Amino acid sequence: MAFPKDFLWGAATSSYQIEGAALEDGRGECIWHRFSHTPGKVLNGDTGDVACDHYHRYIDDIKLMKDLGLKAYRFSVSWPRILPQGVGEVNDLGLDFYDRLVDELLAADIIPFLTLYHWDLPQALQDRGGWLNPEIVGWFSEYTDIVSRRLGDRVKAWTTHNEPWVAAFLVHAFGEHAPGLKEWALGFQAAHHLLLAHGAAVPIIRQNVPDGQVGIVLDQAERTPATDSEADQQAAYLSGVAGGHQWFLDPIFKGYYPPDGVRYLTEQLEGIDLDAVKSACVPIDYLGINYYFRMVFAANEDGTPFPPRIVPQPDAPKTQMDWEIYPDGLYNILTYIHKTYGPIDLYVTENGAAYPDRPPVNGVVEDPERIAYLQQHFAAAERAIAEGVPLKGYFVWSLLDNFEWAFGYERRFGIVYVDFNTLTRTPKQSALWYKDWIAAQTKA
Ligand code: FCB
Repeated sequence: MAFPKDFLWGAATSSYQIEGAALEDGRGECIWHRFSHTPGKVLNGDTGDVACDHYHRYIDDIKLMKDLGLKAYRFSVSWPRILPQGVGEVNDLGLDFYDRLVDELLAADIIPFLTLYHWDLPQALQDRGGWLNPEIVGWFSEYTDIVSRRLGDRVKAWTTHNEPWVAAFLVHAFGEHAPGLKEWALGFQAAHHLLLAHGAAVPIIRQNVPDGQVGIVLDQAERTPATDSEADQQAAYLSGVAGGHQWFLDPIFKGYYPPDGVRYLTEQLEGIDLDAVKSACVPIDYLGINYYFRMVFAANEDGTPFPPRIVPQPDAPKTQMDWEIYPDGLYNILTYIHKTYGPIDLYVTENGAAYPDRPPVNGVVEDPERIAYLQQHFAAAERAIAEGVPLKGYFVWSLLDNFEWAFGYERRFGIVYVDFNTLTRTPKQSALWYKDWIAAQTKA
């Protein structure tokens, strides 16, 4: 068995997706509140107003985690719960909530992994330009300082951003996420500020949590060329360096944007001081990887590789998200990142699958596809570890069925089924399978 006994088996969630209590106890409005309350933005008009009501049910949820044998739990802090206006006045009730959550986790022997930004930006800051305003580097620093001062005595694993690619491009270029802007160049501006904010936050956390581990979580898709032709290979390569995964990896680990990408992006990068991104390159202790699917790229009909063309794979196995199931991709990415950007500790901070699960029958929710998905991805992770990749933990996405952004409650990623009328939790068969798996992997 390649997984070490102290491997951290866990589960992940995020604040807006599970907490509910959207405006309670002084929490300020976040961009997802505004967006989900705007007709036509989220499937079925769903909002995070109640979500899983985790804000009130966290004690039971931690009992559930304990019962499953989870060693670690990855959650995010809601910025507008702490700073309703984004900066300035601190809402103590918001900090108190995370204080209680952390204490309860520690009492249950579950290691808290805290993410500062998982997309619920205070609306008040969005009104001032959000991630497009360079001042956000200071705003994020202020927020980071407050949270790390308060929780740093007990939380030792800190993540600045979750998936800055999504926070930059799905938000500002593709319009799918709050607040739904649609201009490619804006995606690059936001990416730049997300990177600078990361670089500014890490030393603040180090200062406040000297014995802490600090990292960032990046989404990684497997990117393969449709054929062996040079043009298709170039297309797949450019999909990564010109605004894809290397757009974040290179600045964070090397201090500059990928030159091959920059060459193709002249207009989109206008007005950005590209050299300033060297401040994103500060030593970190770990990199979190969120891995879900593969994408296949080809050159365009006229042979040009840019912008790369996505080639649909109609016959490939997929989840309900229409994401291709491709476990080898996890192995490829872990080994690639280790060789290219390592050595650095790695975690799979998200991996999982949505299926249209049926409500419990006699307390049982059958989800064999999800079990198969997990088994295959564990095997891929195991192969990477056997080859020397320092993978330290794995967090299934997600603990609970939850508010899956623009898809509302229709896409169930949980290993625990949530009835969104009664809010009853029922561990699916995958949760019970995971419980047995963890017990077998970690037994003395
Ligand atoms: C990731 C997000 C997470 C969830 C999963 C399915 O991109 O980090 O919040 O939406 O996808």
